[in-house]
Amino acid sequence: MTTVQKEQDVIELLLSQHQQIKALFTRVNQSTGDQKRDAFHELTRLLAVHESAEEQVVHPAARDDAGDAVVEARLEEENMAKRALAALYDMGVDSPDFDTRFAEFEAAVLSHALHEEQEEFPLLRTKTDPDRLVRMAGAVRAAEAVSPTRPHPNAGENPVANLIAGPPLAIFDKTRDAVRDWRQSQKD
Ligand SMILES: [Fe+2]
Ligand SMILES: [Fe+2]
Repeated sequence: MTTVQKEQDVIELLLSQHQQIKALFTRVNQSTGDQKRDAFHELTRLLAVHESAEEQVVHPAARDDAGDAVVEARLEEENMAKRALAALYDMGVDSPDFDTRFAEFEAAVLSHALHEEQEEFPLLRTKTDPDRLVRMAGAVRAAEAVSPTRPHPNAGENPVANLIAGPPLAIFDKTRDAVRDWRQSQKD
């Protein structure tokens, strides 16, 4: 007897990424030096993938159900997060101010995620066709293809891995373009 595994839909995928994001915040908080820097870069890549998919696929779909005000508030928080991440990157993990600023950033991102989980995702789940929610997960995968969210095994010598550890705004631009291309390739 074979078991058919149901494909993860976009909401399940984003919820599991919220857990990964929390775990990465903890890793940054609990490490130092190169390990802290690596964890911060991994968090940047994951947030770029996650927020780009939400910005272009999830929030537009939620607009009719959750209302403009809810969606605009989430988009504004995502823009602020992007700028905070860029400032933290410029500051560097070894800066004496990093931990304080990073703690503020963590609180903002986790509160943003909670709003999504309470105000947006439940409505999206009830109002959207389940097959469409599965198809929408493709947006997250398209972003992951250009911004891997797990460290590359040869990250040390790999030029691609070095490139994706670059400035957050460049990573966000790349993932946004990948999601946009993916969206344009879809029929609905
Ligand atoms: Fe978000
Ligand atoms: Fe989110």
